[in-house]
Amino acid sequence: MSEKVRVAVIGAGLMGHGIAQAFAQAGHPVMLTDANIDVLNSAPGCIERNLVEMGLPVASALRNISVQADFAAAVERADLIVEAVSERLDLKQTLFANFVAMAPAHAILASNTSVIPISEIASNLSRADRGRVLGTHWWNPPHLIPLVEVIRTVDTYDEMFDSTYLIIKSIGKLPVKVNVDLPGVEAGVCDARTIDTVVKNSFGRRLSVLGPMENADLVGLELIRDVHKILFPHLSRAQSPSVLLEHLLSKGETGVGTGKGLFKWSEDSIEEVRSKLANHLIACTQAVSHHGENNE
Ligand SMILES: NC(=O)c1ccc[n+]([C@@H]2O[C@H](COP(=O)([O-])OP(=O)(O)OC[C@H]3O[C@@H](n4cnc5c(N)ncnc54)[C@H](O)[C@@H]3O)[C@@H](O)[C@H]2O)c1
Repeated sequence: MSEKVRVAVIGAGLMGHGIAQAFAQAGHPVMLTDANIDVLNSAPGCIERNLVEMGLPVASALRNISVQADFAAAVERADLIVEAVSERLDLKQTLFANFVAMAPAHAILASNTSVIPISEIASNLSRADRGRVLGTHWWNPPHLIPLVEVIRTVDTYDEMFDSTYLIIKSIGKLPVKVNVDLPGVEAGVCDARTIDTVVKNSFGRRLSVLGPMENADLVGLELIRDVHKILFPHLSRAQSPSVLLEHLLSKGETGVGTGKGLFKWSEDSIEEVRSKLANHLIACTQAVSHHGENNE
């Protein structure tokens, strides 16, 4: 995708400024806004620091970002709006109604919500406007983690879902399509391969240097609590092994030992995974000893 997409990012906090950076870095003009003027004014400095750390050109990316305190001015010319404000349903619903009122009718309306179903965010809109709403779920830090889940509802227009996927791909990220809008993973949401792609390219990238408890403090415990409130009621409380596992085992599909499990395996693919793992762990060990670090 070579043409420029006018992006508006709403919320310039931990996620919003990094999302704005990712689009600006790829040459797209970005309007960045936040209700908190201090957060908004600090965003360009944070983005500059990120770019320097990444060894990327600063001036050209920053030139693409306009910091805009006026909400209407931020969205009135947008092709794609990415909402990254606090994790509250009422707040997001109000904002999406404002997007509909103030943004061009062709604008795609995306939420970066962690766990609120996208269909609930869109529930007060007309049928036609619900079609414009989808999720783009980025991972912290968004300028460094490749994976972005693109999430549709039953109402999302196919063209908007597909073009969002392509825009995210064109800026060098790794989008995956999530076809069912559920808080959590349930049977049928995606296949085993997609689950591994998501884990390896999102939080898996940071786990060896940022544990889940450190991450909780880093993103703030209010957000963690808001996520728990929504997610926990949907988590499996099964008292027995997964039905899928029992089904595969009943067919004798035990994994690499039989050449079939959650995946199909050949001698070559087993060796490929084994040597990739060994090389990765050797490189990590060398990087740690090179920096004289001790993880304990
Ligand atoms: N932090 C993470 O690891 C992470 C990962 C994926 C998704 N998310 C989701 O991204 C969203 C933002 O999270 P965050 O960690 O960046 O939060 P944050 O608190 O750092 O930033 C949110 C920003 O939204 C602003 N805001 C609140 N109301 C606003 C309004 N009406 N208009 C404009 N700005 C407004 C706040 O001033 C704040 O600066 C949440 O929905 C969160 O669940 C967070």
